[in-house]
Amino acid sequence: MRSIFWDDGIKLIDQTKLPEKLEVITCKKVEELADAIKRLVVRGAPALEAAGAYGIALAAHEREFREVEELKSYLKRAAEFLASTRPTAVNLFVGIERVLRAALKGDSIEEIREFALREAEMLAEEDVVRNKKMGEYGAELLENGDVVLTYCNAGRLATVDWGTALGVVRSAVEQGKEIRVIACETRPLNQGSRLTCWELMQDGIEVTLITDSMVGIVMQQGMVDKVIVGADRIVKDAVFNKIGTYTVSIVAKEYGIPFYVAAPKATFDWGKRMKEIIIEERDKEELVYCGNRLLAPPDVKVYNPAFDPTPLENVSALITEYGVIYPPYEENVPKVLQL
Ligand code: MRU
Repeated sequence: MRSIFWDDGIKLIDQTKLPEKLEVITCKKVEELADAIKRLVVRGAPALEAAGAYGIALAAHEREFREVEELKSYLKRAAEFLASTRPTAVNLFVGIERVLRAALKGDSIEEIREFALREAEMLAEEDVVRNKKMGEYGAELLENGDVVLTYCNAGRLATVDWGTALGVVRSAVEQGKEIRVIACETRPLNQGSRLTCWELMQDGIEVTLITDSMVGIVMQQGMVDKVIVGADRIVKDAVFNKIGTYTVSIVAKEYGIPFYVAAPKATFDWGKRMKEIIIEERDKEELVYCGNRLLAPPDVKVYNPAFDPTPLENVSALITEYGVIYPPYEENVPKVLQL
């Protein structure tokens, strides 16, 4: 099943419920979708791209409009509203802008609705195709018997289907290679233990769960051959990904373990640099509570950034749907991605 699809509204696998329950929810209003994005019901950069895209289609369908101009201005407001939900993954804005642009070309209410939904469906299809391509290119980097350490969740759930980092693992397994995965739990919201472990086990791919603080020892003990992670935004000097990715990259560098990033062209924001990117800061409750259980004194001061930048010099190669890109990135990224 896809993590996000259209069926008389936006259907989403509720990622906050996994691994206890596989539940699909329906968003019938843009406000419901915005809430789902903020609560990480839908999350992961490419899945957010599809959510933003379908979100504009939803805005066009969610209520009646008397005239074309009323609908167009509503779509623009919906675009701004959806874009304000999460600041770091650039894909969200890419999805919103692409479908808004297509919808605004319509001359009638019916045409605008049709253009918006068609463009969003196209984007969702393209995501699956590009992940498969990325998987094929990335699988070339994996050898039979490799153990891949991954962080957060960059799998089916973080995309429309197949995955970016986990898509590479899936493609290698499909080619007949035996690949095992080490998944870091990824505090504070445990996308690694809850989502990565769940989806790999569904596919019968061997996965071992570790806490984030065990990255050092597993690398020191020679248990890791390669690291593959996804990305929320790639700029000229860094890869933004889930908080803790930077630390993994430093340990990998210390032990000479290749550190790969798998991400589609839409994740590249090549005109920008590390310092310009807003890192989302999330509620202190994520650190202070586990469900209803207190993990810290409730009035403790908390710092909870959701992402960190890994300098590009720590990245051995970037795996994209256009091919594997090696350093020097300044020269090779624009060449391969035709930016
Ligand atoms: O806060 P999240 O769960 O949306 O963060 C997601 C990540 O950091 C993923 O690793 C990234 O989006 C890559 S997903 C293919």
